[in-house]
Amino acid sequence: MNIFKTTNILMVLLTNLLLVNFSCKKSIEKKQFTSSVSIQKKFYGKTKDNKEVFQFIMKNKLGMSVSIITYGGIITSWTAKNKKNKYEDIVLGYNCLEEYESRSPYFGALIGRYGNRIAKGKFVLDGKEYILDRNNGPNHLHGGLKGFDKVIWGAKEIIKDSTASLELRYLSKDGEEGYPGNLQVKVIYTLNNRDELAVNYEANTDKATIVNLTQHTYFNLSGNFDNDILDHELKINADSFLPVDTDLIPTGEIRKVKNTPFDFSFPKKIGFDIKNEDLQLKNGKGYDHCWVLNEQEKDFRFVASVFEEKSGRLLEIFSSEPGIQFYSGNFLDGTLPTKTKGNYKFRTGFCLETQHYPDSPNQPNFPSVKLDLGEIYSSKTLFRFSTKKN
Ligand code: BGC
Repeated sequence: MNIFKTTNILMVLLTNLLLVNFSCKKSIEKKQFTSSVSIQKKFYGKTKDNKEVFQFIMKNKLGMSVSIITYGGIITSWTAKNKKNKYEDIVLGYNCLEEYESRSPYFGALIGRYGNRIAKGKFVLDGKEYILDRNNGPNHLHGGLKGFDKVIWGAKEIIKDSTASLELRYLSKDGEEGYPGNLQVKVIYTLNNRDELAVNYEANTDKATIVNLTQHTYFNLSGNFDNDILDHELKINADSFLPVDTDLIPTGEIRKVKNTPFDFSFPKKIGFDIKNEDLQLKNGKGYDHCWVLNEQEKDFRFVASVFEEKSGRLLEIFSSEPGIQFYSGNFLDGTLPTKTKGNYKFRTGFCLETQHYPDSPNQPNFPSVKLDLGEIYSSKTLFRFSTKKN
């Protein structure tokens, strides 16, 4: 066989090999594309002012499902597996739009333009004073009377090889709820096949403004909303927290958690210290404080985890944000109905809201929440579910 012929045969073999590999790879990708994740769209209801609301149900190949409605970008249900591999709903919420519209303590919602409180509902930006609603005693909370939790978001489904995403968009007009600047907001929820849900936030403005976006899901990892959350073990990657006054406004002090009931630098049951005679626990009616997270120089890192022993569920949270508000469901008082039967009793849910610190616009020592024209606000949080024995 001459050298030319040998090279030719080798070339043909190589091409065939490449083709086989290529088509194999393609068919595997195709299979993943069509079967490993899905999004289903459903009509959910009409608001009081007759606007249509849709629900998107994202599912992964393991069995996790996350349902989100276009009203408030609310996560209405989210299933996670227990140690027996049973996926159950682990978030508080309602089973109809009417309840979300009429009396929701921000169950599962997207929060903006400013998550958490702004003292006296006012702040000064570039020398100009802005007045916001006082919808929480003397203060402004979670974006005002009609925050991002009560608006209808535009929605687009994005299916990739092994992720299902829901892209939500909202234009908050200049002057809305008293905030300056037209703010274009984009939030993308992405579910993958590792039981992780990522929440990516992005915003830009045409005039200097303030932004602090977060997600307000109430979790109960037991999967049974009759149980309180006091047995859940919480760990927060923070050496300090922000003490507050009786209206839950930070005093400006950054206090070390060591030797206080606020030390969750190691896993500790939420109920372990909650009844302590501690002024901060009294002011918060339990835990309702912002922790100053460690490793703020990192773009993205572990910030908190929660473990519920009976179900074996472990939730780990990663974020780019400098703070996390841990709220132990102190205002749940047995009056709000669950999705099935009964009511949400005292402390049957907790929130871990990754964010900038409360009242930052009035606290020069806190990281800035200002967004200028030409800048892009970008923030990311990831919720990872798994199980462990103990
Ligand atoms: C706040 C609580 C408030 C709850 C529901 C949390 O983010 O920290 O004080 O009661 O939201 O409104």
